[in-house]
Amino acid sequence: MNEQIVILDFGSQYTQVIARRIRECSVYSTILHFNTPAAEIARLKPSGIILSGGPSSVYTPKAPMPDPAIFALGVPVLGICYGVQLLAKFLGGTVEKGLKREYGKGTLTVKDPTCALFKKLPKSLQVWNSHGDKLTKLPAGFKPVAVTENSEFAAIESRAQKFFGLQFHPEVVHTPKGREIISNFVHGVCGCGRNWTMRHYLDQAVEEIRAQVGQEHVILGLSGGVDSSVAAALLHKAIGDQLTCIFVNNGLLRAREADVVQEVFGRHFKMKLQYENASPLFLKKLKGVTDPERKRKIIGGLFIDVFTAATKRAGKAKFLAQGTLYPDVIESVPIAGNPAALIKSHHNVGGLPKKLKFALVEPLKCLFKDEVRQLGLELGLPKEIVWRQPFPGPGLAVRILGEVTPARCEILRNADAIVVEEMKASGLYYKIWQSFAVLLPIRSVGVMGDERTYDYTIAIRAVESQDGMTADWVKLPYELLEKLASRIINEVKGVNRCVLDITSKPPGTIEWE
Ligand code: XMP
Repeated sequence: MNEQIVILDFGSQYTQVIARRIRECSVYSTILHFNTPAAEIARLKPSGIILSGGPSSVYTPKAPMPDPAIFALGVPVLGICYGVQLLAKFLGGTVEKGLKREYGKGTLTVKDPTCALFKKLPKSLQVWNSHGDKLTKLPAGFKPVAVTENSEFAAIESRAQKFFGLQFHPEVVHTPKGREIISNFVHGVCGCGRNWTMRHYLDQAVEEIRAQVGQEHVILGLSGGVDSSVAAALLHKAIGDQLTCIFVNNGLLRAREADVVQEVFGRHFKMKLQYENASPLFLKKLKGVTDPERKRKIIGGLFIDVFTAATKRAGKAKFLAQGTLYPDVIESVPIAGNPAALIKSHHNVGGLPKKLKFALVEPLKCLFKDEVRQLGLELGLPKEIVWRQPFPGPGLAVRILGEVTPARCEILRNADAIVVEEMKASGLYYKIWQSFAVLLPIRSVGVMGDERTYDYTIAIRAVESQDGMTADWVKLPYELLEKLASRIINEVKGVNRCVLDITSKPPGTIEWE
């Protein structure tokens, strides 16, 4: 790969977001440790260098510093936030503690529209700031090109050297035109073409997996969700039969879920798939349990037991693969005195690796959800899997209020299948975050034909969300609601009433538990 942008990481939580923005420009990028020697960087022949932001101040004793020789490589440089302060420090400017910390939204006014970074952009832009220190004197050769309310040097350039500095963060979504600014740097200033696609990413990921794994065997817990499915397909492409996927049927799956997984991964991809039917065990242990937290604990604990036993049967494996995505792992370069590595433990598999003493393979660690979906399509996974809505690890147990029994599972599974089918038929299934049925533990009176019934109630839940943290209920068309209710009540034995959940999150949660 000849064209690439090097990103030097000074510990910003947004470094991976910069890399993602560059992938969006169809350009390859490499993230390197902040003090990578200039000679090593030069060997990569980068078209440009980006200095990331970071939590430090350039004047603190142990602040992370780049090799000063990077500024003599003759390569365009873009400093972002802390990166601008580095430009100032190394090229002769001054940085001071800002009197007022600039944090959050700001308005950028472009003073010099001939600056390549702002080509074809409006004069006034919304930007996102997050810095305390502030540039007070520009290095020789630099000119201010844009200002904010708080800073007369919000964007600076040294046109002759092709050095640029932005005090705000162009990579985050809160800078709506930030992509264009980065694209202007990558294409306009650095002259990169658009040659890097998901296909290239895939080839590279395959090579990296092969290099990491060698001849060893790998085990992966396949849930049928997007992340583990894409990880499985990717690993299988890289190492074929050295991969064993373990699929645990906990008895709390949706209709046809176990069949689809066996069909797609076993029969179509011909992966080594170890199917563990632990359904009777889970249902036995859940008998009589109504407390939601206890249900979760039982399910989580059993999953670890079943999975651990299954790995032993799978044979000797050195690695455990996980479909961890970048948003699951918010990592920073450990800066001296600040080993800032914040790892969110995954809902379902937290605790597994430690207990099992495997080395980890996490081939999706640098990707965001939408990129994982793209990769899944590139790998030939069906739309049904790639675009599937999130489904919680404890499965139907968080959607059956009260005791989880085989009969109640059956009722909910049948009702849920109708919701999924009708949502797909209406075209809404792939447009919203989640849509599903919930089984309430109350029964009420109804009439069916000449008979009086005394049956359960199903609640329909459909929500819009970006990340599951907040959500809004979806105003489904009346015709669709009518069809859902009438089909569920007519076709699902044991249900005689249907209601719609119109609670947003907060204050509600998405699942009822
Ligand atoms: P709540 O109900 O907390 O759910 O608003 C937020 C999102 O998380 C999903 N969820 C889970 N996902 N394991 C998962 O993998 C779990 O234990 C779990 N609990 C909730 C839920 O479906 C929603 O998308």
